Amino acid sequence: MIPRPVTSRNVGPGTTLADGMVIAADGPGQGAAALLATELEAATGWRVHRAGPGAQSPHGAVRLQVGPEPMADEGYRLRVTESGVDIVAASAAGAFYGTRTLRQLLPPALLRSAPARPVGTVHVEGLEIDDAPRFQWRGLALDVARHFFPKDFILKLIDLAGLHKLNVLHLHLTDDQGWRAQIDRYPRLTQVGAWRRQSPLGHQGDGRFDGVPHGGFYTKDDLSEIVAYAARRFVTVVPEIDMPGHMQAAVASYPELGNITRQLEVFTDWGISEHVLNLEEPAVRFCAEVLEEIMDIFPGPYVHIGGDECPTTEWEASPRSPRLCQMLGLSGAHQLQSWFTAQMSKVVAARGKRLIGWDEVLDAGAPPGSVIMAWRQHHAAQAAVQGARAGHDIVMAPEPWTYFDWAYADDPKEPLAIRPSISVEHAYSFEPVPAGFPEELQHRVIGAQCQLWTEYVTTARHAEYMYFPRVCALAEVAWSPRGRRWEEFEPRLRRHTARLDALGVNYRPLDGPTPGQARTWSEPER
Ligand code: ACM
Repeated sequence: MIPRPVTSRNVGPGTTLADGMVIAADGPGQGAAALLATELEAATGWRVHRAGPGAQSPHGAVRLQVGPEPMADEGYRLRVTESGVDIVAASAAGAFYGTRTLRQLLPPALLRSAPARPVGTVHVEGLEIDDAPRFQWRGLALDVARHFFPKDFILKLIDLAGLHKLNVLHLHLTDDQGWRAQIDRYPRLTQVGAWRRQSPLGHQGDGRFDGVPHGGFYTKDDLSEIVAYAARRFVTVVPEIDMPGHMQAAVASYPELGNITRQLEVFTDWGISEHVLNLEEPAVRFCAEVLEEIMDIFPGPYVHIGGDECPTTEWEASPRSPRLCQMLGLSGAHQLQSWFTAQMSKVVAARGKRLIGWDEVLDAGAPPGSVIMAWRQHHAAQAAVQGARAGHDIVMAPEPWTYFDWAYADDPKEPLAIRPSISVEHAYSFEPVPAGFPEELQHRVIGAQCQLWTEYVTTARHAEYMYFPRVCALAEVAWSPRGRRWEEFEPRLRRHTARLDALGVNYRPLDGPTPGQARTWSEPER
C-alpha cells in the first residue's frame, strides 16, 4: 500500500465481499461511501447496496463511521474482521482516506472502471490499520500554461491524487506562454492570451520552432466542475495566477497593462519574459478583478499569486516608474513588487482567504499570514527558515527533489527534459523539514508538493510518465511518518505498479522506460 500507514498489522481471518454487499455510513461519511459504492459497482459489476450505520450483510459489509474520535483530523482506523470492514474517522476526509486504503487492499483489478472478467467473491485479509498524515499539505502542481491539458486528464489526476492521499492540486493557470482561465471582465485573456503562434522545438535556445499554433483554456464551468470533482475526493484546488511577472500573455491581450508601446504576442519561447505588468492603477485593478473572479470559482482557502522570477528591467527603464514610486512612497523600482504583493494580499484577505507566493515574495518582505512555497534550488531551505521566522507557513517544493519536470536519469533514452535528474529513489529521499531547521519553527512547515512544469511535456501521456511513479514517492514523503527506507519502499512500489496498470497510468517502469516511452518526446505530438 502507498503511502505506508502509520501502523498496520494482520489479525484474524478477514472478510469476504461479494455481489449484494452493503456499504453503510452515517451523515458525514456518506460522500465517501457513495463514491466507494460507485467505484466498486463499476469495477465488479456487482450490486452494492447503501445502508445506514451498523448494517450487516451475508454478502459482506463496509461500514464508515465519522464521529468525535480522539484522532487526527484526517486520520482513520480501519479494521477488517469476519463481520466486515469498519472504518472509523474523526472527519469525512479521514473516512475517505480509509476507503482509499481499502481500495488498495482489494485486488488491483478492482481499480478498473469495468470488470475485465467476471468478479466472484473477494477476500480481504484481517487487518488493523491506524493512520494519519504527517503533513496537512500534500500537493501536486500542474503547469497548464506552457501546455494546455484537457479537462479529462485533470480529473484523472485528481483521482490518482486521492488514491495516494494527496489533498492539494495546484493549477498554474497563467504564464507568459498562455492564459488558461476564462475571466468575464477581460475576455481577450482567452480570446488572445490562450493561444500562441508556435512553440520551441528541442531544448530552449536551440532556435528551432514548430510553426504550429498551441492553446486552449478552461471555461468557468470547466473549472467549477474540476473543483467539485476534486472536493468529492477531498482535494483542494489551488489556483495560481502568476503576477506581476510571467504575464506576457495578459500583456499581449491588453497592451495597456505592460510597459512598452510595441504590441507583444503571447510568448513563443521558454524561459522568463522580461515583459511584466506595469504597476499603475489600471494594472493593479486588473489583477484584483481577475482574483475576484478566480475566488468566485475556487472556494478553497488559498489563492496563489506566483510572484516568482519577476525581472525589474522594464520598471527600471520606464520613464513613468520614478513618478509611480514617488507616489507610492517607494525608494525605487526594486520595492514595487513587495508593495504590489501587499495590495493583492488585501484583496485576498477581504474574502477571508490566504495568499500564497513562491519564495521570491519573501525577498522584500511578504504580507503577514501569507504562505510561502520554498522552491529555489540553492535557496529553498534558507527561504523556509526565513519565512518561518517571519511567521509564515511554508510548503516545501525544492527543485532538486520535487521538480518532476526534471528527467528521471541523465540518459539519452529519457525523453527530453529541462535538466537531469531526479530518480524515484531521490524523490523518495526528500525530507520536507530541512536539516538544521529550528525545532521551535518546525510546525511552520505545513507540507510538501511536487511540480510538473510543462515546457517539454506536451501530452497527458508524457505528463503521467513524468509524475508516476515519482508522485507515489512524494505521497509517502508527505503522508507517512519519518523513518522511510528505500529498500522497504522499492518492492512495495513494484507491487503498486499493478494498480497503476489497472488505472491505465503511463508510468515509467522502475527499470527504465519502455521502448515507446524511450523515444524522445523532443519533436512533440501536437
Ligand atoms: C518556479 O519554478 N518559477 C516557481
